Amino acid sequence: MKDSTGIFYAKYSHGLQFGSSTSGKMYEALKNNILNNDILNNDIKVLGINVDDLKKWTVLNIGTGREAVVFSSLGAKMVEHYDLSEQHVKQTMDYAEKMNFVNLKSFQTDVVMETLPVEMYELVYANGVVHHFSDPVKGIVNLVNSLKNKGYMYLCFYRSGTFKWFVNEMIRSLISYKFIDDYYRTLDLRYGFFNGETNNLILTIMDEFFVPNVYLYSPTQYIDFLKKLGCTMYSSSRLEPIGEIVHDKAYHSCVLCFQKQSNRKIQADEVRNSSFVPKNQLKDLKYTGLAHKNVDLFWKIYDIKDKIPYETLKEITLKMHQFAGPQHYLYNDNTKVINNGDTKFNQDNNQELYNLFCYILEEFN
Ligand SMILES: C[S@@+](CC[C@H](N)C(=O)[O-])C[C@H]1O[C@@H](n2cnc3c(N)ncnc32)[C@H](O)[C@@H]1O
Repeated sequence: MKDSTGIFYAKYSHGLQFGSSTSGKMYEALKNNILNNDILNNDIKVLGINVDDLKKWTVLNIGTGREAVVFSSLGAKMVEHYDLSEQHVKQTMDYAEKMNFVNLKSFQTDVVMETLPVEMYELVYANGVVHHFSDPVKGIVNLVNSLKNKGYMYLCFYRSGTFKWFVNEMIRSLISYKFIDDYYRTLDLRYGFFNGETNNLILTIMDEFFVPNVYLYSPTQYIDFLKKLGCTMYSSSRLEPIGEIVHDKAYHSCVLCFQKQSNRKIQADEVRNSSFVPKNQLKDLKYTGLAHKNVDLFWKIYDIKDKIPYETLKEITLKMHQFAGPQHYLYNDNTKVINNGDTKFNQDNNQELYNLFCYILEEFN
């Protein structure tokens, strides 16, 4: 079956913010330099590489194309950008052409289904991507096979066991994809500019509620799996503390950097029967205390969800998201990105969730 993730992104989420049919926003985003600085000041440091190394390197990137553009402008020998989305690829190629970037190529590709060039890249930069693959095992194996021996991989992924994904898993079980356009309109009226344009808050909500695939693994699962594929983890960001359930302790995403230590080509089927199996946040983790009570109450609500009027259910899920990711609601203009893994956003809002759940059950049970 064709993966609709690319169409989803271009229509409802990141694609809209960083690109458009004219790629105008890509210019804006890069002109104000936020991303450039993030990659330079954070990611390259975590990777432990020198910007000058890029001059000798071929880099693989997946996404809107904005990161590929940054690597290209930082002087990489060649950047190869792949994405499922036709729009992301078009805006990247348009941008490369306008800016005369001869070191940037873009391909519309499903990197789960189509084999990438083998042992081609010195750096694979995948930020917020692999948990959306239709088959993460197959996709990650493909990425690792595309790396040269001693090549580096930057993986930033949504983390199992965090409070945000605990709540988002509940939200995703309560909503139906058929209401996606109605949610988008509501968000536009409530947080947007009434014109279908997105912003950080809207794209985050759309992404977390409706993106077709979200597969959650713990950092330990990634580390063990990549080890199986011949890669060692040598650097990280927002990793500590390691644990299965880290509601008030860890940020909802985490970065791991790996170096490949092998030139053996791997087949996905060789490594499929490993412990790299995604965790359903409501069924596969053993909670205690309030979190445990909330899972119990959630399933009671789930059973009566058809008795709750749609508009009320929409309000409930939007309220739950405010508990899940309060950092996204801090700014009126919704233009700021809070993505530093700041400990004050590692909160556990199980008490608020509990109060809301008690109210819902009282009203509708
Ligand atoms: C959250 S976005 C990444 C955003 C990225 N950090 C950026 O700023 O551009 C996830 C991206 O992964 C792409 N994607 C997901 N699955 C894919 C696949 N199998 N092959 C290629 N691209 C894929 C989506 O189309 C989307 O552009």
